[in-house]
Amino acid sequence: MKKKPENETIELLLERGSLRNFKKRKIEPEILDKILAAGIQSASGGNLQPYSIIVIQDPKMNKKLGDLCYQKFVGTAPVNLLFCIDWNRMKQIADEGCAPFSANHAFRHFWISFQDTIIAAQSICTAVDSYGMGSCYIGTIMEFLEKLIKMFELPKGVFPVVLLPIGYPTVKIRKANKFPAEFMIHHEKYQPYDNKKLFKAYTKRQNNTKHDPDDKKLKIIEQNCLDVGGKELAKKCLKEIKGKGYINPIQYRFGLHYPAGEMPKLNEKFLKILKKQDMDFFEKWESVKKN
Ligand SMILES: Cc1cc2nc3c(=O)[nH]c(=O)nc-3n(C[C@H](O)[C@H](O)[C@H](O)COP(=O)(O)O)c2cc1C
Repeated sequence: MKKKPENETIELLLERGSLRNFKKRKIEPEILDKILAAGIQSASGGNLQPYSIIVIQDPKMNKKLGDLCYQKFVGTAPVNLLFCIDWNRMKQIADEGCAPFSANHAFRHFWISFQDTIIAAQSICTAVDSYGMGSCYIGTIMEFLEKLIKMFELPKGVFPVVLLPIGYPTVKIRKANKFPAEFMIHHEKYQPYDNKKLFKAYTKRQNNTKHDPDDKKLKIIEQNCLDVGGKELAKKCLKEIKGKGYINPIQYRFGLHYPAGEMPKLNEKFLKILKKQDMDFFEKWESVKKN
């Protein structure tokens, strides 16, 4: 007989991992309600609870979501939860109560509401795990925010943060490698890192994966180096790759997967979408104030 763990919560947290293989099995409504209640009970700055969760159970809609973010497994989950920052709710309350309201124009509030949203999402992840189910955060929704806003009729003041497919697993959930605590935890004050040790720890964490340096990949990496570090970095990086005969995990991560030259170019697009949702905290306050 399997021994009961000393601390079931710690066991659950230590054994967690993302799930990308879902059974067709529906989530029992009473369990789903409890999972959502666990999210709502989360900590929240000023207890403003400035987020909403859209529960998507229509298989057609879930498939649409999977197709949209090029991650088919998302469409196979019985339930998808879309976590959104929501300042619309508080604005309506303020309007009704004749109170001044500017939270959707304040970066301070945005910062806290983003945290609130994610804290609720993580409570829900743990609740999901506690029922023997699993989940996987989907951050790539950032690439089709406007479509989501339309699909789910999100009013001004509401902004999608993350999608979370949840359901029962068809496979045993695998734990991903993480940095050892010595690279993550600082006691009393920030301790400087040793580059070489860090690089070694990251390479090990990534199972020493050596990516094939074909011409297409090299070209993309070179361009990203040129964009952020100029000719010198491009030359150094390519020399390193050619010398070793492979693309190392960190070159892969920021040269190809999250291209360093491309990512900052998206800033403006996100700010424009935020502004469309009446969340324009980088404008001068005077220019958004209504007289
Ligand atoms: C904010 C966020 C966004 C993520 N986006 C995606 C995603 O779009 N697709 C995906 O398959 N996994 C996504 N993940 C899951 C990560 O890939 C996963 O957490 C990471 O590889 C570590 O594995 P673990 O969750 O099993 O520990 C995301 C995770 C987070 C926290």
